[in-house]
Amino acid sequence: MIPHNKPTIGTEEELAALRVLRSGLLSQGSETEAFENEFCDFVGLPKGHAVAVSSGTTSLYLALWALEGDKKTISFPGYVCSALRNATNMIGGNEEIVDVAKETPNIKFKKIKKETIAIIPHMYGIPVDIPVDVAKNNDNNIIEDCAQSLGAKINGISVGLHGNAGIFSFYATKLITSGGHGGMYVSKDKKLADRVRDYREFDYRHDQKKRFNFQMTEIQAAIGREQLKKLPKFLERREEIFQKYKKAGLELLDVERNQNHLSPVRYRAVIKTEEPNKIIKSLESVGVKAIVPTEDWELLGKHELLPNAVELSRKTVSLPIYPTLTDQEIEIILSAIS
Ligand SMILES: Cc1ncc(COP(=O)(O)O)c(C=O)c1O
Repeated sequence: MIPHNKPTIGTEEELAALRVLRSGLLSQGSETEAFENEFCDFVGLPKGHAVAVSSGTTSLYLALWALEGDKKTISFPGYVCSALRNATNMIGGNEEIVDVAKETPNIKFKKIKKETIAIIPHMYGIPVDIPVDVAKNNDNNIIEDCAQSLGAKINGISVGLHGNAGIFSFYATKLITSGGHGGMYVSKDKKLADRVRDYREFDYRHDQKKRFNFQMTEIQAAIGREQLKKLPKFLERREEIFQKYKKAGLELLDVERNQNHLSPVRYRAVIKTEEPNKIIKSLESVGVKAIVPTEDWELLGKHELLPNAVELSRKTVSLPIYPTLTDQEIEIILSAIS
């Protein structure tokens, strides 16, 4: 079977994990700090602005905590991973679910009220514009959810740097993985990043502040560092596969026309189709796993309030796209659907 998704792990990651195991220093330490600093370099932030944590959901929770989400309404699209709802519930904020724009997996941008935190996911690697006047207004609370879009840019600047904070996931099937789970919080605002870093661990602290254990392990960080080095190559191969699908005539979800300032990464190759089940079955018959990327039952919120999300969830199929997918496998996929 050609799987729908697969992590790309090589000897570099194996040796990195071994190096840490043999060092005997296993819990958060110098590997984690190096990973944070290298991540800052990658997204274009000064050192000290990234905080490595145990998962993407953890980083989202911490981002909400640092913006005092417990006292605010937290607004996010219904067409998204349930991590957003779970983090909102954990923080005790008031949820407000909004629809996506028609025929796109991304949120419809609107004005943000002062007492609202907007979580803005860049779904499937497709960055969504954050209007300059909104981003510049310090009263706004914007968290960019970049779990699916590491490497994507808006006006040449990495996603995650356009609002108050950005969160990233290194789950097994994301663009890079830190060995199964892991996440990163980033902020242009050093004070926010420092608050999050302070909350992440409670050992050896000489005050009574509320804290928790949200740390990444050294093995996770060491694997993440190797993956980050490989990310440009990963993204290149993903782009190549995406273009092969497009060249074959497939209609894929992508940035809209005349949006040249938005540079996507190809986390997902999602085709628009009236017959998703037929396509999934036809691919299955040649040994290929394709899925509905977000099914209608997964939508967060009442269907009648999310007409665009409901339509998208019923008319899309996600094809395999990952660095180790071979040209021969791409041919098999195309033969079953074009
Ligand atoms: C858009 C989005 N946000 C947040 C998350 C949560 O990340 P994690 O699985 O690392 O907790 C995910 C995925 O899993 C996601 O796709």
